[in-house]
Amino acid sequence: MKKAQKYSIIIKEAESLIDKNVDDIANMANLSRLLYDHFSHHWIGFYRVIDDKLQLGPFNGPIACTSIALGKGVCGKSWLHKKTYIVDDVHQFEGHIACSPQSNSEIVIPCIRGNQVFAVLDIDSTHYKMFDSEDQSYLEQIVSLL
Ligand code: SME
Repeated sequence: MKKAQKYSIIIKEAESLIDKNVDDIANMANLSRLLYDHFSHHWIGFYRVIDDKLQLGPFNGPIACTSIALGKGVCGKSWLHKKTYIVDDVHQFEGHIACSPQSNSEIVIPCIRGNQVFAVLDIDSTHYKMFDSEDQSYLEQIVSLL
Protein backbone atom coordinates (compact mmCIF):
# COMPACT_ATOMS: atom_id res chain seq x y z
CA MET A 1 0.00 0.00 0.00
CA LYS A 2 1.28 3.48 -0.85
CA LYS A 3 2.19 5.79 1.99
CA ALA A 4 -0.50 8.31 1.01
CA GLN A 5 -3.18 5.61 1.16
CA LYS A 6 -1.95 4.43 4.54
CA TYR A 7 -1.98 7.95 5.94
CA SER A 8 -5.47 8.66 4.62
CA ILE A 9 -6.73 5.59 6.50
CA ILE A 10 -4.84 6.68 9.64
CA ILE A 11 -6.29 10.19 9.43
CA LYS A 12 -9.85 8.84 9.21
CA GLU A 13 -9.19 6.54 12.17
CA ALA A 14 -7.53 9.32 14.15
CA GLU A 15 -10.45 11.66 13.56
CA SER A 16 -12.83 9.13 15.07
CA LEU A 17 -10.43 8.18 17.90
CA ILE A 18 -9.63 11.67 19.18
CA ASP A 19 -11.96 12.44 22.05
CA LYS A 20 -12.23 16.10 22.99
CA ASN A 21 -13.68 15.14 26.39
CA VAL A 22 -10.50 13.50 27.68
CA ASP A 23 -7.03 14.86 28.36
CA ASP A 24 -4.07 14.89 25.95
CA ILE A 25 -2.46 11.81 27.51
CA ALA A 26 -5.41 9.59 26.60
CA ASN A 27 -5.52 10.83 23.01
CA MET A 28 -1.73 10.65 22.63
CA ALA A 29 -1.78 7.07 23.91
CA ASN A 30 -4.24 6.00 21.23
CA LEU A 31 -2.57 8.06 18.51
CA SER A 32 0.89 6.64 19.17
CA ARG A 33 -0.55 3.12 19.13
CA LEU A 34 -2.55 3.81 15.96
CA LEU A 35 0.62 4.93 14.15
CA TYR A 36 2.55 1.99 15.57
CA ASP A 37 -0.07 -0.44 14.27
CA HIS A 38 0.28 0.94 10.74
CA PHE A 39 4.04 1.43 10.54
CA SER A 40 6.76 -0.86 11.79
CA HIS A 41 8.83 2.03 13.13
CA HIS A 42 11.17 1.45 16.06
CA TRP A 43 9.74 4.07 18.42
CA ILE A 44 6.65 6.29 18.17
CA GLY A 45 5.63 8.58 20.96
CA PHE A 46 5.06 11.95 22.51
CA TYR A 47 7.04 14.20 24.79
CA ARG A 48 4.91 16.79 26.57
CA VAL A 49 5.99 20.26 27.61
CA ILE A 50 5.86 20.27 31.42
CA ASP A 51 7.20 23.46 33.03
CA ASP A 52 10.60 24.07 31.43
CA LYS A 53 11.24 20.71 29.84
CA LEU A 54 9.89 17.93 27.65
CA GLN A 55 8.68 14.98 29.65
CA LEU A 56 8.13 11.50 28.26
CA GLY A 57 4.50 10.88 27.36
CA PRO A 58 2.60 7.97 25.79
CA PHE A 59 4.71 5.90 23.43
CA ASN A 60 5.19 2.53 21.77
CA GLY A 61 8.64 1.02 21.51
CA PRO A 62 11.66 0.56 23.75
CA ILE A 63 12.11 2.39 27.06
CA ALA A 64 13.15 6.00 26.42
CA CYS A 65 14.73 8.97 28.19
CA THR A 66 12.26 10.75 30.43
CA SER A 67 13.29 14.37 30.20
CA ILE A 68 14.67 16.68 27.46
CA ALA A 69 15.63 20.34 27.92
CA LEU A 70 14.59 23.15 25.55
CA GLY A 71 16.90 23.20 22.53
CA LYS A 72 18.46 19.81 23.35
CA GLY A 73 18.32 16.87 20.97
CA VAL A 74 16.05 16.79 17.95
CA CYS A 75 12.97 17.01 20.18
CA GLY A 76 14.19 20.04 22.12
CA LYS A 77 15.08 21.80 18.86
CA SER A 78 11.66 21.09 17.37
CA TRP A 79 10.11 22.59 20.50
CA LEU A 80 12.41 25.63 20.48
CA HIS A 81 12.06 26.42 16.77
CA LYS A 82 8.41 25.29 16.44
CA LYS A 83 9.24 23.29 13.35
CA THR A 84 9.41 19.74 12.10
CA TYR A 85 12.83 18.14 11.90
CA ILE A 86 13.57 15.31 9.49
CA VAL A 87 16.89 13.65 10.32
CA ASP A 88 18.15 11.22 7.68
CA ASP A 89 21.06 10.04 9.84
CA VAL A 90 20.84 10.72 13.56
CA HIS A 91 24.56 10.00 13.98
CA GLN A 92 25.32 13.14 11.94
CA PHE A 93 22.94 15.37 13.92
CA GLU A 94 24.82 17.42 16.46
CA GLY A 95 23.35 16.98 19.93
CA HIS A 96 21.12 14.05 19.00
CA ILE A 97 20.00 12.18 22.12
CA ALA A 98 20.36 8.44 21.56
CA CYS A 99 17.65 6.81 23.65
CA SER A 100 18.08 3.63 21.61
CA PRO A 101 21.27 2.56 19.85
CA GLN A 102 19.12 1.06 17.10
CA SER A 103 17.70 4.38 15.87
CA ASN A 104 19.20 5.64 12.63
CA SER A 105 16.72 8.23 11.38
CA GLU A 106 14.06 10.32 13.01
CA ILE A 107 11.22 12.80 12.48
CA VAL A 108 9.97 15.16 15.18
CA ILE A 109 6.76 17.17 14.76
CA PRO A 110 5.80 19.97 17.15
CA CYS A 111 2.21 19.90 18.45
CA ILE A 112 1.06 23.51 18.54
CA ARG A 113 -2.01 24.96 20.20
CA GLY A 114 -2.63 28.71 20.24
CA ASN A 115 0.89 29.41 19.00
CA GLN A 116 2.42 27.40 21.88
CA VAL A 117 4.18 24.06 21.53
CA PHE A 118 2.54 21.73 24.08
CA ALA A 119 4.20 18.48 22.96
CA VAL A 120 6.24 16.90 20.20
CA LEU A 121 5.60 13.69 18.31
CA ASP A 122 8.83 11.75 17.84
CA ILE A 123 9.23 8.81 15.46
CA ASP A 124 12.47 6.82 15.20
CA SER A 125 13.44 4.25 12.60
CA THR A 126 16.18 1.65 12.46
CA HIS A 127 16.51 2.53 8.75
CA TYR A 128 18.40 5.54 7.47
CA LYS A 129 16.42 8.20 5.54
CA MET A 130 13.08 6.73 6.51
CA PHE A 131 11.11 10.00 6.59
CA ASP A 132 10.40 12.64 3.97
CA SER A 133 8.24 15.71 3.35
CA GLU A 134 5.24 13.47 2.64
CA ASP A 135 5.46 12.03 6.17
CA GLN A 136 5.89 15.56 7.48
CA SER A 137 2.75 16.91 5.88
CA TYR A 138 0.54 13.96 6.97
CA LEU A 139 1.97 13.82 10.49
CA GLU A 140 1.50 17.58 10.92
CA GLN A 141 -2.12 17.06 9.89
CA ILE A 142 -2.48 14.19 12.41
CA VAL A 143 -1.07 16.10 15.41
CA SER A 144 -3.26 19.09 14.56
CA LEU A 145 -6.24 16.86 15.48
CA LEU A 146 -5.14 16.89 19.15
N1 SME B 1 16.33 11.17 19.77
C1 SME B 1 15.55 12.16 20.48
C2 SME B 1 15.32 11.74 21.91
C3 SME B 1 14.06 10.96 22.12
S1 SME B 1 14.19 9.32 21.72
O1 SME B 1 14.63 9.18 20.35
C4 SME B 1 12.80 8.51 21.99
C5 SME B 1 16.23 13.50 20.42
O2 SME B 1 17.37 13.61 19.97
O3 SME B 1 15.62 14.47 20.84
